[in-house]
Amino acid sequence: MIKKIAIEQFKLGMYVYDLHLVWAEHPFDWHCFLLEDEETKAQILASGIREINIDTEQGEDVEVYSELSALAPTVIVTRTPAEEFEHAKNLYSNANKLMQGMMKDIRLGKQIELEQCQPMVAGIVDSMFSSPSALLPLAQMKNRDEYTFQHSVSVAALAVAFGRVLEMPREEIQELAMGGFLHDVGKAQVPGHILNKPAKLDDAEFVVMKNHAANTSVLLKEVEGLSEVAFNAAAQHHERFDGTGYPLRLKGDEISVHGQMLAIVDVYDAITSIRVYHKGMPPTEALRKLFEWSGAHFNPRLVQAFIKGIGIYPAGSLVRMESDKLGIVREVAVDKLLQPVVQMIYDCKKMCSLSPEVVDLSASNDKIKSHESFEHWGIDQAKWYATERC
Ligand SMILES: [Fe+2]
Repeated sequence: MIKKIAIEQFKLGMYVYDLHLVWAEHPFDWHCFLLEDEETKAQILASGIREINIDTEQGEDVEVYSELSALAPTVIVTRTPAEEFEHAKNLYSNANKLMQGMMKDIRLGKQIELEQCQPMVAGIVDSMFSSPSALLPLAQMKNRDEYTFQHSVSVAALAVAFGRVLEMPREEIQELAMGGFLHDVGKAQVPGHILNKPAKLDDAEFVVMKNHAANTSVLLKEVEGLSEVAFNAAAQHHERFDGTGYPLRLKGDEISVHGQMLAIVDVYDAITSIRVYHKGMPPTEALRKLFEWSGAHFNPRLVQAFIKGIGIYPAGSLVRMESDKLGIVREVAVDKLLQPVVQMIYDCKKMCSLSPEVVDLSASNDKIKSHESFEHWGIDQAKWYATERC
């Protein structure tokens, strides 16, 4: 449980969930971590913050009956949707920076430290459990220079959504997400001019690029404490159900279920991502493609489950209503895939923008008529998220 506590209640053994500071404003390597030493505690106290969020599932709880807690009440945190979005934005940015730093370290010959990734992956899992509609649309938007890092975070987040629809235990989902976060670390050893080439790779370049899957295996074998679930998921994400993948050309059940899942998530994220040189396929079209490729490239049973988990109109999609209004999907409940919560933005009949209006379609007579392309309507999705979202 996430609790907001007064700084006076803070003690060793607590798990820091949110310092209420952005990454750049604090000296700590991680955003979420277990407080284990007096030195770090002193640094936190010196930062001047008055409140801190802790996760009582991963560390010590407050002493409810102490005299101190009577003076400084504990608040159980329930974030508003706007706060969830802000939290997801910070998390996404911090996780990208962590992956960027790790890849730099790999290029310098350093080993991956699992302890560095665990708090961040736990944060992604937590965000996806409490509000998947906040993190997923953000994770869809990538910029060219940071694509590889952002893709890693995105794949971890999507893996959580996938694990949840298969009703996997949370511990297993966390390991799958770890595999997602680390799945492309082998790209650190691919030369930048190939990795970031804004055009199709030639045959020789493609061979070098494909090596990243084997590189990932080699790097992850050295990581102390990495689970089998995480290792297999990452090492097998380019294997294909019909045996045409790489690096080992594994086939069918020779590929772990976690590797099979990550293969689907990896391709979905790659084809739906919005990049400078890549428009990003609408989610409905991408899901149709995955369905088409299932049987050959992917396990059909898992593709069907993934489609169910992501929804026909995932959060972040642009949709046209029967009332001829355009809206952006804000939240999707698993049991109401066709009736998400939508923020209406434009009236196509009157040809005018609408003042922000958020409609829960499960309590409205209006229905979604079709999926629309952002590009067709001249809407910059990333800009909209930064400025217009209410
Ligand atoms: Fe990959």
